[in-house]
Amino acid sequence: MDWISEIDKLRKEKNAIILAHNYQIAEIQDLGDFSGDSLELARKATETDADMIVMCGVDFMAETAKILNPGKKVIIPSLNAKCPMSAMLTRQELLEAKAQHPEADVVLYVNSGADCKALATSCCTSANADKIVNAMESDVVIFGPDRNLAEYVMKRTDKKIIPVPEKGYCYTHAQIRLEGVKDKMEKHPNADLVVHPECFPEVQEIADAIASTSGMLRYCKESSAKEFIIGTECGMLHRLEKENPGKKFYPAFDDAICLQMKEITLEKLYNSLKNEQHEVKVPEDISERAIKAINRMLEIS
Ligand code: 13P
Ligand code: SF4
Repeated sequence: MDWISEIDKLRKEKNAIILAHNYQIAEIQDLGDFSGDSLELARKATETDADMIVMCGVDFMAETAKILNPGKKVIIPSLNAKCPMSAMLTRQELLEAKAQHPEADVVLYVNSGADCKALATSCCTSANADKIVNAMESDVVIFGPDRNLAEYVMKRTDKKIIPVPEKGYCYTHAQIRLEGVKDKMEKHPNADLVVHPECFPEVQEIADAIASTSGMLRYCKESSAKEFIIGTECGMLHRLEKENPGKKFYPAFDDAICLQMKEITLEKLYNSLKNEQHEVKVPEDISERAIKAINRMLEIS
């Protein structure tokens, strides 16, 4: 089966748009109508006139696209493509934090469930977290679920940040350890170190740049450096290499793989388009409240 041309036929027949996150396998990034970071994917979902959105990413990205397009069919090719960090924050824990800090605004990373987003003042992504927090009215901000992103924000705001849960993290970025990164720097002394804010603070501290996945693309394109050590999920290297011929990219950790992102294969994408599954549904009452937090983010950033 020539998956790529079959997928192409189906997407035209069904007037579907394929959105692919920067961590998807290379073939899916290449055939997507658009690939980008979480913020760009959310924005793209507000701009499309396609009848169907196929999200090649993880659960919270598909949910966000559905919340922004309640009238459209949104599908995700694998039900196992669920972000473990997003699942680390429960609605109950968030309600408790809100009860303890009634004066606080709540800023939630888009990597969170729709039921939690429904309780937030605003969402944020790694591309705009400090900007969003600084735009809040209250001087106290409940922030979750990523503790490392919370620490990144703490260094860029005078507001008091309350992380919920206390230690939410991304297991993919948690594998990128200081010692390993230092080894890579010794091996490639002329390379710039570019890391994602989901990395540990000690890794962020020695980096030349800290950026979201699309921020990394911009940084590496504009930099005069010719070599880069990249501290994020390894799928990112595909676009970096493709868009920067002549520059060299090395992963900060060779096996920094998000298994949930890699759940989506060409075969699953083909089947999902053919059978129009798995359809993403968000209860109306949750969706109506969560959209306010997502739109607030899109307005501020
Ligand atoms: P960005 O693409 O927004 O940088 O997000 C990284 C990520 O881990 C998404 O799951
Ligand atoms: Fe979640 Fe981390 Fe995978 Fe992103 S890379 S989807 S944050 S587990």
